[in-house]
Amino acid sequence: MSLITFAASPLVITPTVRSFTFSPPLRRSNNTVMSAVRSETTSTCPVLTMFKKDCATPTPFLRDVANAIADDMQAGLAVHGGGDLEMILTYVDALPSGKEEGLFYALDLGGTNFRVRSVQLGGEEERVVATKSEQLSIPQKLMIGTSEELFGFIASKLADFVAKEEPGRFRLEQGRKREIGFTFSFPVNQTSIDSGTLIKWTKGFNVSGMEGKNVVACLNEAMEAHGLDMRVSALVNDGVGTLAGARYWDKDVMAGVILGTGTNACYVEQKHAIPKLQNKSSSGTTIINTEWGGFSKCLPRTIFDQEMDKDSLNPGEHLYEKMISGMYLGEIVRRVLLHMCQTSDLFGQAVPAKLETPLALKSQDLCKMQEDNTDDLSSVGSILYNIFEVKGDLKDRRRVMEVCDTVVKRGGRLAGAGIVAILERIERETKRLASGQRTVVAMDGALYEKYPQYRQYMQDALVELLGDELASHVQIKHTKDVSGLGAALLAATNSIY
Ligand code: BGC
Repeated sequence: MSLITFAASPLVITPTVRSFTFSPPLRRSNNTVMSAVRSETTSTCPVLTMFKKDCATPTPFLRDVANAIADDMQAGLAVHGGGDLEMILTYVDALPSGKEEGLFYALDLGGTNFRVRSVQLGGEEERVVATKSEQLSIPQKLMIGTSEELFGFIASKLADFVAKEEPGRFRLEQGRKREIGFTFSFPVNQTSIDSGTLIKWTKGFNVSGMEGKNVVACLNEAMEAHGLDMRVSALVNDGVGTLAGARYWDKDVMAGVILGTGTNACYVEQKHAIPKLQNKSSSGTTIINTEWGGFSKCLPRTIFDQEMDKDSLNPGEHLYEKMISGMYLGEIVRRVLLHMCQTSDLFGQAVPAKLETPLALKSQDLCKMQEDNTDDLSSVGSILYNIFEVKGDLKDRRRVMEVCDTVVKRGGRLAGAGIVAILERIERETKRLASGQRTVVAMDGALYEKYPQYRQYMQDALVELLGDELASHVQIKHTKDVSGLGAALLAATNSIY
C-alpha cells in the first residue's frame, strides 16, 4: 500500500549535500509507453561507485554522528526547540511496578495498522491475567483525510471491540469507567499525562487541520459521538509504551527504540539533568521522548535522499528517519536503480516502466533479495520480475544487491550510532555500563524484527563505537508488540480511581 504521495517525476541531478558530484547525462523513459529505449549505454556504473562512496559510514564518521545526536539531545533538554531532537517531556515519571490491577485498554495508532487491546491486570503475583487484541489496517484515505473521519473510524472500531467483550475474562470494577492508554505514535507536544497537541504528522499521514490540536480531545469527541463512555488516562508514544511494557518484565530496561515504518527512541532521564523542566526542585527520573527521527546534521545524504525527501508528504522533516526506517529504504534503492538504468546498461536497453513507480519497492523486498544465496541469484531475479517486470542478468542482479546492501548498511549503522548516543546519555548520569550493570534497550518494529542484515549492521556499529567491554553489558531485546501492554499499564499507573 502506498503511504506517501510522490510526484512520479524523473530524477534530476543537482549538486548534492555530501560529496555526490557525478552528473551523467540523463536518458529518460517516455512515460506514455511501457518502456523507453536508451540512446546510448555504458557498461560501467559510475552512479553505483559514487553512491557507495557517498553512503560510507566508517567508524570515525559514525562517532561524529553519535556526538552530534548527543549535542542535539542536550540542546533539546535545555530549551524547547533547542536542537533537531524535540526531547519531549512525557509526564511519565513512574514506570510500571508490577503491582497494577484492574481492567485497562490500549489503543494504538501510528502506522499502517490500528490496534485495540484489553488487559486484565492481576497485581504482582498474577501479572497479566487475560488480554485480547484486534488489529485492523487503516484505509489509506483516512491517513490523508479529516480528523473527524480518522477518529470516527477509531471510535467505531473501539465500540465494536468493547461490545464483543467476554464478561467472564474481563472484569470492570463497579463505579469505574473503562480507562485507556492511547499510543499515538507521532510527535506530540505533551501538556500532561493525558493530553497533548500534535506537532506534525510523519510516516505518510497528513490528516488535515490537526497540527496544534489536542489529540485526546479529538478521540474524546469521537467516542462521545459513538456513545462510548471511556476515558483516556495516558497518552503515550510507541517508544514510551515499549519502554514501559518491557520494564514491567525487566527492571534493567532503560530505553525503548522503534525501528519500523518510522523510528524513535525514548529513555529514562534524571530530572535534575533537564534544564527545561519547570519544577526545578524535581528529583527522580522521567521518560524523554527524543523524536530522534528529526535529527538532520552531518548525515551522509545523497541526491537520491534529497529527491525522495522533496517528493514526500513532509519535505525537510525527519531526515534521519528517512535514512534508517522501513518506510524509506526500498524507495531509496528504487531511485538509485532507476538512475543507474537511465545512465548505464543496467537491465539492458530499455528502462522498465514499473521502475518509475514511487514506493514500488519495500524494505521486505530488499531483505528477501539479500537472503538469496543461489549462484545465479534466482530469487533476486524473481523479485525484480514480480515488481518491475524485469529479471536482469547475473551482473544486473549483483548490482541490485550492492545497492540494497549499501542502503541497508548505511541505515543500520546510522541507527546503531543513534542507540550509542542514547546509551552514552544514560551512562553520563548512571555509570551503569562502566560498573558492569546490564542495560537493556527494548526494541520493537518490523524492520528490526525481520531484517537480519540490518540488525547485524546496527549491532556492528554499536560495538565499534562503544567498545567490546561496555557493549558486553548492553542487551538489545526484541520486545514485540509490548507497547500496547505498556500503554495499558501507564493508564493503570495514572488511573483517576
Ligand atoms: C514518529 C514517532 C514514532 C516513530 C515510530 C515517527 O515517525 O515521529 O513519534 O515513535 O515514528 O513509530
